[in-house]
Amino acid sequence: MQYNQEKRHLYNAYQWIWDLVGTVEDYEEYAEYLVKCLKEDENINPRNLLHLGCGSGCIDFHLKRHFDITGVDLSEKMLESAGKKNPECLYIQGDMRDVRIDDSFDAIIIPESINYMRTRNDINRVFTNAKKLLKKEGILLVTVGYDPLCFPQNRTTVEQINSKGVELTFIENNYTPDRAENYFEAVFVFLIRKGGILQIVTDVHTLGLFEREVWAEEMKKTGFETRFIRDKKLEKIEQKGTFMFIGRNI
Ligand SMILES: C[S@@+](CC[C@H](N)C(=O)[O-])C[C@H]1O[C@@H](n2cnc3c(N)ncnc32)[C@H](O)[C@@H]1O
Repeated sequence: MQYNQEKRHLYNAYQWIWDLVGTVEDYEEYAEYLVKCLKEDENINPRNLLHLGCGSGCIDFHLKRHFDITGVDLSEKMLESAGKKNPECLYIQGDMRDVRIDDSFDAIIIPESINYMRTRNDINRVFTNAKKLLKKEGILLVTVGYDPLCFPQNRTTVEQINSKGVELTFIENNYTPDRAENYFEAVFVFLIRKGGILQIVTDVHTLGLFEREVWAEEMKKTGFETRFIRDKKLEKIEQKGTFMFIGRNI
């Protein structure tokens, strides 16, 4: 399998674009939904929570009212932004596949970043690592934004934002060259106009695309008792095809 060249400016040199496109207000409903899922079982009352692939801390901004939060992300710039929003949370730069933390957690969440795992082996490494970081009976919550059975082939969205003297046009295109190869490309084009000067930046993020059964098998194999969730509310908050697994560390 040959990938197009991976570029993730959005999480690095152009991270400020991510902060323009997604504000803390945009994530309130999603955070509330996650809290409801995490507290559904009245016998379990998670207090400390690890957010793997935490990004710029928009979800944490709401979750921190309910939990003590530690966030992990690959990107230094995302973590910098998260730390500014949430000085009371602990942020650590690391890879969700192998990060080590000197603590164990009641709950781990991985919303909207597990698709960065391109192989079954990578998925397995994340779940194995999560198990090590969780307390016995702890909860692992994973949302998967893309389902190969209803993949939005060639979907293109455009968003326009004017802020602080910058006119930004944010274009995203999702495309899978071959579904059987279990990957797709999220291609971004940013048109940045500032003081009459146009700058064009492009990104290609290559992401994994696996069927529901693959996620379930990998979770079970790693030692989680697993529940599958797909409902209209989650699909409305995220997008059509989004699903979730809640695993209990048995
Ligand atoms: C779409 S953002 C999601 C952020 C946040 N979870 C949310 O829902 O708002 C994806 C994040 O995953 C991070 N990421 C990708 N691969 C990762 C890895 N292997 N380990 C840790 N973080 C990773 C990226 O740096 C990025 O900040």
